[in-house]
Amino acid sequence: QHYQNLGAHTAQVEVQPIIDSTNSELMRRIAAKQILESGTVIVAEMQQAGRGRRGRVWQSPFGANLYYSYYWRLDDGLQAAMGMSIAVGLAVFDTLKALYKLEIQLKWPNDIYLNNEKLAGVLVELDGQPQGPCQLVIGIGINLQMPDSFSQHIDQAWTDLSQHTKQIDKNQLVAYLTYYLEQRLAQYSQTGLNDMYQQWNSLNVFAGQYVELNTGHRSWGGICEGIDANGGIRIRQDGEVKSYYGGEISLRKA
Ligand code: BTN
Repeated sequence: QHYQNLGAHTAQVEVQPIIDSTNSELMRRIAAKQILESGTVIVAEMQQAGRGRRGRVWQSPFGANLYYSYYWRLDDGLQAAMGMSIAVGLAVFDTLKALYKLEIQLKWPNDIYLNNEKLAGVLVELDGQPQGPCQLVIGIGINLQMPDSFSQHIDQAWTDLSQHTKQIDKNQLVAYLTYYLEQRLAQYSQTGLNDMYQQWNSLNVFAGQYVELNTGHRSWGGICEGIDANGGIRIRQDGEVKSYYGGEISLRKA
């Protein structure tokens, strides 16, 4: 009964048994100047070199989880890419809510948490000019049923979908995720984050908490006030709120 809501979409989904990384595969095709249609999706059963943000390894055992990458061409350059990360987090929210009635939280820009444990991650990579058209690869990894032997390699609190829901159908998950991604990306191209940033703020895992933003060069501490309409993270320091567009936020340790 769910499917009647999915509508028609144009994405082509390619399934690979084993690959180094679904993101790397799309980036290679971009580098080789292959013509790709927006909405091309690659899913793998296993990744031998799964990648997380900031050069981290993404544990990708066979059959256990979802490894998904979506190709999208963007005409307005990198500025638009920041806000788009926000739209991607919301598409994952829509999917898990529609299928399993789960309410995830989001960590800026697009990490996915359930009860303070990491459930999924997003790695957006791009090829292009800061002001011109660019090509994006939106990689999404969702933990479905992580084998015990892998859990020891994950250096933070994590969870998987099998701990929160009984039936997980990977095909259905791919179909829904693709549908909601297309909805959110279309919404983003039409109205930016205008109709999205408040919803994102209601899901902000660090709302009102003391956080540290680390850009690699510097770090700033302050109260997390959510995002602005461009997708920047707003941090209050000494009574003044500033937006930041890069870096990583974490809870400030006491
Ligand atoms: C993170 O939280 O650090 C981002 C993790 C992104 C993992 C996905 S799995 C599919 C795609 N291919 C990769 O190598 N990484 C992304």
